[in-house]
Amino acid sequence: FSLQSYNTFGVDAKARYFTEIHTVEELKEALNFSGTKGLPLLFLGGGSNILFTRDFDGLVIQLNLKGISLQPLNENEVLVTAKSGENWHEFVMSCLDKNLGGLENLSLIPGNVGTSPMQNIGAYGTEIKDIFDSCTVLNLKTLETEVFDLEKCSFGYRDSIFKQEGKGKYIILDVTFRLTTRIHRISTEYGAIKTELEKSGIENPTIQEVSQAVISIRRSKLPDPKETGNAGSFFKNPTIPLTQFESLKLQFETIPGYPNGDSVKVPAGWLIEQCGWKGKQIGNVASHKLQALVIVNATGEASGEEIFNFSTQVINSVKEKFGIELEREVNII
Ligand code: EPU
Repeated sequence: FSLQSYNTFGVDAKARYFTEIHTVEELKEALNFSGTKGLPLLFLGGGSNILFTRDFDGLVIQLNLKGISLQPLNENEVLVTAKSGENWHEFVMSCLDKNLGGLENLSLIPGNVGTSPMQNIGAYGTEIKDIFDSCTVLNLKTLETEVFDLEKCSFGYRDSIFKQEGKGKYIILDVTFRLTTRIHRISTEYGAIKTELEKSGIENPTIQEVSQAVISIRRSKLPDPKETGNAGSFFKNPTIPLTQFESLKLQFETIPGYPNGDSVKVPAGWLIEQCGWKGKQIGNVASHKLQALVIVNATGEASGEEIFNFSTQVINSVKEKFGIELEREVNII
């Protein structure tokens, strides 16, 4: 079974078995099937943060649970639950249509709702932990459902319990967000949003206008996976000790950094661009011409291995020039 249309890199990897599930019952049946056959399992959502470097000799389960429900909380807040197979951006748009605030800065992020807590998706000053209430998971060992609240998810930058000790143990079935109904917390501190709103002469933006600004920014520099295969940021922005940052600053005066206590987060895109990778193509793979942090399947013909090898070359050159080891953000299979 070809997985080409199930990963946004458009890599033509194969799965021995594949099934799309729409209910928890179907999910349990699929788990049962894999159990009796002793097959390795892989769960797919929108396929927007995964790189297949080889075929998968097991069962791929595509989670397609759908549905959105609302529950009023107080005068200004509502709990909105979306099942894991809902497309993220369509979900964000449907909340904005109902004038529900909190998700606007996260407009146009590829992928599905169910994978959003895994890496605590974030953009333009907001991370899902800021509006997260809880998620329901299926425990793969007990086949019971459990509810994980904010604390239990241990969210960090592009990180959560689902990438750490909970890895491979749970399937996220739905996610509940705490959204505002009347008085919204508008967040426009992120420089690019401010600039975008100023361009349009907007001073006190609505949540819909913030969303439009984010959409314009993303469209202007991130490649559309429907046109060019990619998985968004390929690497995490590294955090380095303040002392290391200060000594790098002596050598590279323009190095950007966002200090946080004793450490500094450095934009990986800048480091990669400085090494001459921006827009550079090797074979079928390239670093995006407008945002070096994004690796693209430039010809549509790239194999996962080729993309992986390209990323290794990027890591090596950043390490050599700056002494910083980049970490991949995309899940490698
Ligand atoms: N920069 C360069 N050259 C580049 C790219 C970036 O010099 O080619 C420098 C610039 O100094 C720029 C700074 O990096 O000011 C930050 O760039 P940008 O605002 O594009 O953000 P980022 O740090 O590169 C992160 C997220 C993105 C998210 C944006 C906006 C990570 C790994 N990536 O990128 O997330 O959209 O911030 O909030 O944290 C994703 O995860 O797939 C993703 C796209």
